[in-house]
Amino acid sequence: MTKPIKKAIFPVAGLGTRFLPATKAIPKEMLPVVDRPLIQYAVDEARDAGIEEFIFVTGRGKGAMEDHFDHSVELEQVLEERNKIEALEILHEAMPTAGHIAYVRQQKPLGLGHAVWCARNFIHDEPFVVVLPDDLILAAPGCLRQMVEAYQEVGGNVVAVEDVPREHTNRYGILDIVSDNGRLAEAKGLVEKPDPAVAPSTLSIIGRYILQPEVFAELDRHEKGAGGEIQLTDAMAKTIGKVPFHGLRFEGERYDCGSKLGFIEANLAFALASDELHDGVTDLIKKLV
Ligand code: UTP
Repeated sequence: MTKPIKKAIFPVAGLGTRFLPATKAIPKEMLPVVDRPLIQYAVDEARDAGIEEFIFVTGRGKGAMEDHFDHSVELEQVLEERNKIEALEILHEAMPTAGHIAYVRQQKPLGLGHAVWCARNFIHDEPFVVVLPDDLILAAPGCLRQMVEAYQEVGGNVVAVEDVPREHTNRYGILDIVSDNGRLAEAKGLVEKPDPAVAPSTLSIIGRYILQPEVFAELDRHEKGAGGEIQLTDAMAKTIGKVPFHGLRFEGERYDCGSKLGFIEANLAFALASDELHDGVTDLIKKLV
């Protein structure tokens, strides 16, 4: 029997430099894909996987995210007066239950591992998930739900993985595989951003993790890795042998919304997946190209 997973950490303290000047005054995670900010997709995916508590690791200038998950009294009043019931419902659906959302500041962006470590006091002796909102995944059922199902089979740490072109291994955490059944790959090691020539495989970790609390003992050491940052991959790698480690090839499409091209592709893909927008966007694309 695996322990149930009820808590999610959303590391959102990064600077988002690739989207400047858009991200000067608003957080990257508030950039909209079609009509919802990235962070909303991440929270909805987690909720759909059974997550009940949402912990955001934020930094300076990220206040818009807190406002997004709070009531906007004036706006709601105006919508009520104008009888805009549908719009009101959309606002209410986005809202986590009071007391189930928490914010902690990373203070300095020292790396993803450090961001997760900043949330340590919210996690007790229990598994939890980490979601990077930059990685937007179009999937049904959602990627995290698929991962929770895989976790119930194998336990331990489970990360979402996908095969990348070998020349891109230096952008990701890469699995060193001991066995692979095409859906689940068990790892005997992990390497953060390896050079393509020495990468142990092309199976890369993307922004969804189910982790056991043992990872905090490793993050406590504050060891710096690739790029001088405290890497989550390094801490996870050190728990291999103590807890099983699997990569799940999820069903769905991942869009890297941390890059401009990935963000534009996500907007097109999500618009094409919407009944309301599909035909209009198809015409639009034909006209433009
Ligand atoms: P990125 O590597 O995409 O960095 O972080 P970034 O700062 O957000 O964006 P660029 O590269 O400057 O454009 C991946 C995820 O890890 C979080 C980010 O918020 C993002 O969700 N992160 C990264 C932190 O929370 N803290 C850090 O110290 C580093």
